[in-house]
Amino acid sequence: MRVVHNESGLEAVSAGAIIPTMGALHEGHLALVRRAGRLAAPVVVSIFVNPTQFGPGEQCRRYPRTLEADLAAAQDAGADVVFAPDVQTMYPPEKEISVPPLPPVATRPGLEDAHRPGHFAGVCQVVARLFDLVKPSVAVFGEKDYQQLLVITDMVRAETDRWPGLHVESVETVRDGEGLALSSRNAYLHPGQRDQALGLYSAMTSARRAASHGAIPAAMESLMHAILAEHRLTVDYAAVRDARTLEAPDPSRPARVLLAARLGELRLIDNMPLE
Ligand code: PAF
Repeated sequence: MRVVHNESGLEAVSAGAIIPTMGALHEGHLALVRRAGRLAAPVVVSIFVNPTQFGPGEQCRRYPRTLEADLAAAQDAGADVVFAPDVQTMYPPEKEISVPPLPPVATRPGLEDAHRPGHFAGVCQVVARLFDLVKPSVAVFGEKDYQQLLVITDMVRAETDRWPGLHVESVETVRDGEGLALSSRNAYLHPGQRDQALGLYSAMTSARRAASHGAIPAAMESLMHAILAEHRLTVDYAAVRDARTLEAPDPSRPARVLLAARLGELRLIDNMPLE
C-alpha cells in the first residue's frame, strides 16, 4: 500500500474506487474499503479532516486523529493507496476550487441542513476536490451519514460532464452487538453515556415496529421523541421522511426514519429504512 500526501503522488491513480474519510477508521469504514475492492482498482482511501464542513464551535481541531492505526487498518482491509493531504494540498491558496450548486436535498429537508448550516457546502467542496484529484470510477459512502450520501449522489448526477461515469455506491450502516451505529465520534462516549446513546437505536426500532402495525408518521415521530427523552437525549430532530427526497413521506414510496440528538457536547445521528 502506498501513502501519498500530494497531487503528484496521485498521477498514476485513476478510474479506481475512492472512500473519502476523515480518519479514525473503524469497522464501518473498513466495510466501505472491502466493498470498494470488489468494484474497482486501485482502492484509494482519503484521510483528511476537512475544516470547511465544521461549524463554529464544532471543534474540528478536537476530531480524533489516529493516522498510524488508520494506515494499518486500511492496508488490512485491502486499500492500495492512502491519500492523506494537508490543507494546502486540498485548498491551494492560488487555486479556486469550483463547487457545484447544492442539490435540493442539501437545503430543503430542514434536518442536518437546518441544524448544521454550511455543513453540506463544506462536504461538497471537499468531495468535489477529491473527485477531481483522484478521478475515481466509483465512490463509496456509508448509509450512517444518509443525508450526506443523498447530497453527494445528487451532486454527482448533476455533474456528469465533470465526473463522467462516476458511480456512488452505498453500504449499510455497521452496528455493534447492541445496535449502536459505529462512528469515529463514539470514542468520546464515556461508559455511562453508552446506554443513553443506545436510545437512538431503541427509538428507530420502536418506530419500525409501530410502522408495521400501521402507525402514521406523526405517531412514529412522537414515539421517537418520547424514547429519546427517556434516554435523557436532547432531540434536534426525529423525523419520518421520503427515503429519496427527504421530504414528507408518501405512503406509496419507501420511507426512512432519521434522528439527531445531543448528549452533552456530543451530537449523534442515525437513520434506518422503514419496511
Ligand atoms: O463522512 C465523512 O467522514 C466526511 O463528511 C467526508 C465525506 C469524508 C468529507 O469530509
